Amino acid sequence: MLRIAPSLLSADFGRLSEAVGEVASEADWLHVDVMDGHFVPNLTIGPPVVQSLRRHSGLYFDCHLMITNPAQHLEAFRKAGADGCTVHVEVGDTDALIEQARSLGLRVGLAANPDTPFEAYAPYLPEVDLVLCMTVFPGFGGQAFMAEVLPKIARTRAEIDLLGLDVELEVDGGIDEETTPLVVEAGARVLVAGSAIFGDDHPWEATRRIRESGEKALSGRQVD
Ligand code: DX5
Ligand code: ZN
Repeated sequence: MLRIAPSLLSADFGRLSEAVGEVASEADWLHVDVMDGHFVPNLTIGPPVVQSLRRHSGLYFDCHLMITNPAQHLEAFRKAGADGCTVHVEVGDTDALIEQARSLGLRVGLAANPDTPFEAYAPYLPEVDLVLCMTVFPGFGGQAFMAEVLPKIARTRAEIDLLGLDVELEVDGGIDEETTPLVVEAGARVLVAGSAIFGDDHPWEATRRIRESGEKALSGRQVD
């Protein structure tokens, strides 16, 4: 089963709730990119925006925290209506962050930058609900997909399956109709897409096309 998670980063920030409405019927999750101007150079949104969007949407809010100090903000995101929060393994204190997120009733994700090795997050796989392999360096939408991450995605899929874990494998960065088959064949099942969806005149249809591209790759894989 595939999940498509449109990333709001490429939506018009002046009309976010309408943007959510444009993809709601075709999206499985909504991906919310939170940046602090420190862990990544860009600044985006925080809990007040999540809280406002919560009033307009029942979608699963998949909050990607590209921030240096998630411990300080997890509770606010939970109270604002986040369903899951993903923290970066590069910020450290991973055990404590996982425990804190769990105690708040959040589903917990762990993200890794393109150049962060599998070994950095592998020990935490049994403790999390989701692992996010970044296929661009985080900070900005619209960057080119990094195919060199594919072997790490495949290795992560193999480990999840070997251990029989119930862990979602998400990819984020440069995902479109063309790159979707590559990541699905490598084992990703949650696909985040920003510019390919909100940069399209018809975000709903763009979401559907990514899903169809992924499902085609998945069915080909199952026949093999
Ligand atoms: C990048 C963000 C992504 C971004 C993806 O830092 O984490 O979620 O929105 O955008 P695209 O799909 O345009 O690469
Ligand atoms: Zn993201």
